[in-house]
Amino acid sequence: MISNAMRDQLASGSLIRKMFEEGSRLKKLYGEENVFDFSIGNPDLEPPREVFDALADLAENPTPGMHGYMSNNGYESTRRVIADRMSVKSGLRISPDAVCMTVGAAAAMNDVLHSITDPGDEIIVLAPYFMEYNGYIANHNGKVVIVDTDKRFNPSVDKIREAVTPRTKAIIINSPNNPSGVIYPASFLKELNTMLNSMDHVIHVISDEPYIDLAYDGIKVPCTLQHIDNLIICFSWSKSLSLPGERIGYTLVSPLHEDYKELTAAIVISNRSLGSVNAPAIWQKVIERAIDAKVDVANYQHRRDLLYSNIIDAGFNAIKPCGALYIFMNTPQGMSDEEFSAACASHKLLLVSGAAFAKPGYARLAFCVSEQTIINSRKAFFAVAKDLGISHKTEL
Ligand SMILES: Cc1ncc(COP(=O)(O)O)c(C=O)c1O
Repeated sequence: MISNAMRDQLASGSLIRKMFEEGSRLKKLYGEENVFDFSIGNPDLEPPREVFDALADLAENPTPGMHGYMSNNGYESTRRVIADRMSVKSGLRISPDAVCMTVGAAAAMNDVLHSITDPGDEIIVLAPYFMEYNGYIANHNGKVVIVDTDKRFNPSVDKIREAVTPRTKAIIINSPNNPSGVIYPASFLKELNTMLNSMDHVIHVISDEPYIDLAYDGIKVPCTLQHIDNLIICFSWSKSLSLPGERIGYTLVSPLHEDYKELTAAIVISNRSLGSVNAPAIWQKVIERAIDAKVDVANYQHRRDLLYSNIIDAGFNAIKPCGALYIFMNTPQGMSDEEFSAACASHKLLLVSGAAFAKPGYARLAFCVSEQTIINSRKAFFAVAKDLGISHKTEL
């Protein structure tokens, strides 16, 4: 018999799973190339050369004990490289002890939530948001409090303030955002910090930053460390270096955090007690050597442009994302998410309903799929629009 909490999680995870299963079914039936599957955010670019060079070097020149246990926060040499890089970026002096190496951003979030959450504590999230947060928060008996964003997916500090109660423990922000691709401006971060600092208890800002290196059109993503004091960053190289299967990331507590000492110690203990023990040893060493490498962001930007044109030219609406790997398009007025998904699926166009991100009325499409798939999908967008009586903006 599974727990009641797990039963709830099984039910809420079913939307993306359903899409995934539908994708596999259609691909078997019609062939990979004839199904336009935009449902999964799995980066398809290969990791950069520096990653393979570092791996080869480590395999050829092993050092004694390199596969052994280590401190639960990871190798000091790796944490130093990260701390130095983040010091330069932020202008703050960041110690390697601020950093704890983790098994990706998901484990980083769990380590942080475990360290700060008492049963019933409230964690604010900004819709649309990555729904895995629900599971992470439930793992530590917290309560999700959803605050909506505006039509351009920008959050309002006033709305966040209205949601704060004496039980508010943290707010999770994610910019560039999954699913909207929006980058929160520095003015928002500053205003949020001022508001939170005016409260009579500490409210942590957990900044989930796996997409921080994926920004387009020359836009610079504001550095959260420069604007927020009680900040804990959760980062991973899942997207920046296309390494989601390798599970490598970190937490970083701002030196300006009021609870810096206790919090950094608590996160390390959580990393151990939640079962990661430490992040993969070899990948810490790879990161140390390849810290400045990046995937081909221009390639993602090109594919974003192609997919965005398909959507707009066919007659649909969407805000052009500035970062991350997704377009969060509007579903046509008067249609439910399910009806729109079904209309798309009938032309083998697969996407994820906005409801899976606590924002019905939208659908998420991941553009980390081959350029050819995006080009081939154009006719499907036009066909769906035609079925729904939507006039095209340009010719096919
Ligand atoms: C917003 C967001 N946070 C966290 C994660 C988890 O990342 P990781 O693979 O590093 O655990 C993802 C993965 O897609 C994500 O989109």
